[in-house]
Amino acid sequence: MDRSLNYNYKIVRQFAIATVVWGVIGMAAGVFIAAQLAWPALNFDIPWLSYGRLRPLHTNAVIFAFGICGLFATSYYVVQRTCQVRLFSDKLASFTFWGWQAVLLCAAVTLPMGFTRGKEYAELEWPISILIAIVWVAYAVVFFGTIVKRKVRHIYVANWFFGAFILAVAILHIVNGMTSPASLMKSYSVYSGVQDAMIQWWYGHNAVGFILTAGYLGMVYYFIPKQAERPVYSYRLSIVHFWALIFTYMWAGPHHLHYTALPDWTQSLGMVFSIILLAPSWGGMINGIMTLSGAWHKLRSDPLLKFMIVSLSFYGMATFEGPMMSIKTINALSHYTDWTVAHVHAGALGWVGFITMGSIYYIIPRVAGKQQMHSVSMVETHFWVATIGVVLYIASMWIAGVMQGLMWRAVNADGTLTYTFAESVKATWPYYVIRVTGGALYLCGMVLMAWNTWMTMRGTRSVDVPIPLGPKNPRGVIDTGHVVPA
Ligand code: HEM
Ligand code: HEM
Repeated sequence: MDRSLNYNYKIVRQFAIATVVWGVIGMAAGVFIAAQLAWPALNFDIPWLSYGRLRPLHTNAVIFAFGICGLFATSYYVVQRTCQVRLFSDKLASFTFWGWQAVLLCAAVTLPMGFTRGKEYAELEWPISILIAIVWVAYAVVFFGTIVKRKVRHIYVANWFFGAFILAVAILHIVNGMTSPASLMKSYSVYSGVQDAMIQWWYGHNAVGFILTAGYLGMVYYFIPKQAERPVYSYRLSIVHFWALIFTYMWAGPHHLHYTALPDWTQSLGMVFSIILLAPSWGGMINGIMTLSGAWHKLRSDPLLKFMIVSLSFYGMATFEGPMMSIKTINALSHYTDWTVAHVHAGALGWVGFITMGSIYYIIPRVAGKQQMHSVSMVETHFWVATIGVVLYIASMWIAGVMQGLMWRAVNADGTLTYTFAESVKATWPYYVIRVTGGALYLCGMVLMAWNTWMTMRGTRSVDVPIPLGPKNPRGVIDTGHVVPA
């Protein structure tokens, strides 16, 4: 059998399963650290169970394991379908799977042991960081190699977003990863002082822009039109907001460093670009939501569309809130408080989590050679349990955050502080308990997804889906305004 006539679904299946498994692990770690904040005794006086070590384990597991495995799975699926060719190299694709799992296992071992570069979202020590760079180059070769050998002349917009994510992450990781090793598991940044902080948050913010945003917009532009069976609302808008988004994100990083030693004009520049960012972000949200025009009735019965559309609503919320929080006077209240954590999880649980779940639910039956998920009603239950979970999580953290900010700045007539810090911690406690409840519900939903995936995948050996002979539609589009992906 000439395998080049079929799509490579094995690699998509492997990454889809990994997404679900790591999702359960990363979210369980999130629930555990949330419980530690409410009941500190859960640290058990064991160093590797301490909050300081498990927090980066959570962020790495949800972003780099759950999040990026989801992006691998969907980008490999979408690039093949829309280019109507098999992946550029099966061996290299397989290397990206095993190489990435090796990175994740190293993270799961070294972070609880306390090895860290001390830079948020870039904690992994230099040997692991080098492995990441190697796997990433292989990913770029597979993805762009597939684009180069495509049979369809047009490069569908979802691939532009995936491509930008792959290129930007390579640049960010290499520039922020410049370190001088002192031993096998200890290194120091080659930058110092305020330059180090600036580069770290240029990296940090663009990790939000290119991992937690651009990659997932790639999912939006493929899976929403497919599931709704409607063309993208405005193909022109998708191109305009793509270029506006990637240009603007690069400048917004300093909003993480308001009122620091960073020169004041740099902070203001970051603030201005963050406010501008509202426009391209909402361009994407509106385009995604409007794609449902004429298909709104499907939302009643289709749980996948529910995941996808609700995710866009959270995307709209997080990208409205972000620019507001970047305004210096508002940041003076929100920074250091749980308001930031609410913003993060509106984006992470509502936007990133939901669009990933919707897209992976779309992919799983197809790569397992089944008509649909083992239990569609379980997908529906997952949606409702997770939605209640997100709402509890973010509402409690919003209230807690604003309350903390107001308590810390309250002063008496004689200029002394009205509240001690401990009083603000005490006042926050009930909200931490609500957050644990919301997180546990969200995790339950993920466990349902794992069970459903297992039942759907059971007995699957290999699925050979033939590539259509010759492009049905040479530009991959019906016309520039009405695109239906392959
Ligand atoms: C069951 C679901 C989850 C729970 C209970 C949870 C809980 C937590 C907790 C307790 C923290 C620490 C907050 C602090 O230090 O004050 C945290 C941080 C964080 N989590 Fe989650 N999380 C969950 C899911 C996720 C997901 C799915 C993502 C990403 C896709 C994510 C991304 C993050 C990030 C980026 C931070 C760091 C935030 C910051 O530094 O401001 N979380 N999470
Ligand atoms: C227009 C888009 C956005 C803007 C302008 C923006 C702006 C901001 C601002 C001002 C902060 C607080 C910085 C601080 O006080 O330390 C922040 C934190 C954060 N945002 Fe956004 N945000 C946007 C969208 C998003 C989205 C869609 C996500 C997806 C999950 C996200 C994830 C995060 C994370 C993880 C942090 C915490 C970083 C940390 O301190 O560890 N943001 N954002």
